[in-house]
Amino acid sequence: QPAKIAVPHRGASGYAAEHTLASYRLAIEQGADYVEQDLAVTKDGVLICLHDESLERTTNVEEVFPDRAVVDPATGQKQWLAADFTVAEIKRLDAGSWFDPRFAEERVPTWDEAVAALGTSARLNPELKTPDLYRSRGIDQAALFIESVERLGLPARGDSALIVQSFDDRPLREIANSLPRMPRTFLIEARDGPRWLTEEGLREIALFATGIGPAKRLLDGRPEVVRLAHATGLTVTPYTFTSRSPVDARFGSVTNEMRYFLFDLDVDAVFTDNPDQFPRASQ
Ligand code: G3P
Ligand code: CA
Repeated sequence: QPAKIAVPHRGASGYAAEHTLASYRLAIEQGADYVEQDLAVTKDGVLICLHDESLERTTNVEEVFPDRAVVDPATGQKQWLAADFTVAEIKRLDAGSWFDPRFAEERVPTWDEAVAALGTSARLNPELKTPDLYRSRGIDQAALFIESVERLGLPARGDSALIVQSFDDRPLREIANSLPRMPRTFLIEARDGPRWLTEEGLREIALFATGIGPAKRLLDGRPEVVRLAHATGLTVTPYTFTSRSPVDARFGSVTNEMRYFLFDLDVDAVFTDNPDQFPRASQ
């Protein structure tokens, strides 16, 4: 049986400020197979590692740029969209103190810096976040990513040294056209499970992706879905396994929870905030 794979989620984000180089380095120390990067795009078209569309949850942007907020029409709350700031402006922000003062010196890394920092010590698993937002501003996020692959000499073949992921099928279709041998994971949130996790849905996914990344509850108790995905030629990587929120009482620990998905349901890999808790074997 092929070895099971740990994908530290936003780095070792259970222990270090997410998407900082410190978090990525710790993930490698803890035995990462891959390291995940969520990619946003700055006003001047630079890919950066950031989970949210906006900067206020994970940086001190509110303090540094108090007058640059816009109102989120959905919530009526102020937000500081990364796409409204240049990379030079974003580099002024403290990306670590919100998590712990020990990380106060950490900055939001660019994609290029993350690649340089990780080198060959771990494989890469970038996610193209919210491509619609950038499209509405005339920026083709997938094209920026594709351009970076050549510029940075990244692996674009089927050897799985880099797997790209997205909740949006369009960038994956674009990458399938330009880099047909690059592995592609289609992420599926809980509410979209009924649409995609059928024989027909999985067959459609296989036209533009090489794997699925479903919310874990879509697979819980359903080994037949994993079997069907595998039979369709798709890898299966559920998200997110974490000790940052209470672990399901059935499992008692995040290690046991991952063990159930990896060895009882037979998924290939897991996204986890706790790479040090990853079970390499079934016992
Ligand atoms: O990319 C897999 C998983 O990270 C999806 O959830 O919101 O943490 O990016 P999110
Ligand atoms: Ca992600």
